[in-house]
Amino acid sequence: MGAIKLREGIWSVGVLNPALRVFDIVMEAKYGTSYNSYLLTGEKNVLIETVHADYFEEYEANIRQVIPLEEVDYLVMNHNEPDHSGSVGRLVEKCPKLEILCTAAGRKHLADITNKTLPCRVVKAGDSLDMGGKALEFIPAPMLHWVDSMFTWSPADMALFPCDFLGAHFCEPTMLDVNIHSRAAYEGEFAYYYGGIFGPFKSAVLAGLDKMPAGVELVCPSHGPALTEGIARAVEQYRAWSTPKPKEKKTACIVYASAYGCTKALAEAAAKALEGDGLAVSAADVTAEPLSAVAALANEADVLLVGAPTINKDAPKAVWDVLASLDAVNTKGRAAGAFGAYGWSGEAPGMLHTRLGQLRFAGPEEPFKVLFTPTQADLEAMAAYARSVAALVQ
Ligand code: FEO
Repeated sequence: MGAIKLREGIWSVGVLNPALRVFDIVMEAKYGTSYNSYLLTGEKNVLIETVHADYFEEYEANIRQVIPLEEVDYLVMNHNEPDHSGSVGRLVEKCPKLEILCTAAGRKHLADITNKTLPCRVVKAGDSLDMGGKALEFIPAPMLHWVDSMFTWSPADMALFPCDFLGAHFCEPTMLDVNIHSRAAYEGEFAYYYGGIFGPFKSAVLAGLDKMPAGVELVCPSHGPALTEGIARAVEQYRAWSTPKPKEKKTACIVYASAYGCTKALAEAAAKALEGDGLAVSAADVTAEPLSAVAALANEADVLLVGAPTINKDAPKAVWDVLASLDAVNTKGRAAGAFGAYGWSGEAPGMLHTRLGQLRFAGPEEPFKVLFTPTQADLEAMAAYARSVAALVQ
């Protein structure tokens, strides 16, 4: 891609990875991604972030299109996940005078990632870096999306460097929102990226938005295009997606699989009991509904009940897929229970119960299980079990 001048003294020197289709082993990257880095030139030359280790040579060449690499004075690491810190070690080897600025958590991460003693200066809120004609200010923004995260602000340029925040896995070589060719594709990826990376950290997102300086004219994230005309809309979308929706009622979600209707009967008994108690209840057969829809319901519910029969000493994969899609970061205050009807050994409810506990849902001591067809007494016991789980919601 080469170096791209974004503003006087601000260069994009990152690299593109158009062939990438899975990012960080968990996120689809339909259009690839970019590992962005920015070079701020002046009396002092400052790099902001590096790139994935596999792209160091191209990255170095991009920097050298602007200045000799050896003339870089500072490296600001707003966040140190290896897609951004992967080239730090080699950069330090080639730039002996380089000083790295990062948060205290960032310094620890960098040391553990590179296994090197690096020339780090820890910065805090209110600290700044004098570049000669202008200064950079540091704004810690923890949990966006790592504890090390911070923003770097250049008031002279009205430019904010927020690392992953407000980025997208997108890969057009112009690197500026006003020049995006596939607008609809970018919009879709911007939303998907938010959901995958920042969705679990909504309160941190709101805090981060509130920390953005007024009048930002240029946002330079570390993936996807830099934002200018798109800043207001991007901020508005992040705020809307992160603001809790008011709930009129406590919500419950009952997800289940049922081979012959026995576990389904238990699910219906639970739903009826909780609806009768005034909860808003959704129930989903995981073999009949799309996983994404079931997972969304499960992740929004105050009360989660997961039901499965036992097949070959395990719960069916479709049920495990739901548990693997749960937001493990945001289970505090929520409650979950496991249930199921079985024919021989009945391991599934216990296995699901263990997993829900590992995810830190509040839950009863035991799962609920029934041998073959539930009797009326079993259905009443299931209703009581559902109520006991709901009572644990804080
Ligand atoms: Fe793009 Fe959290 O790294």
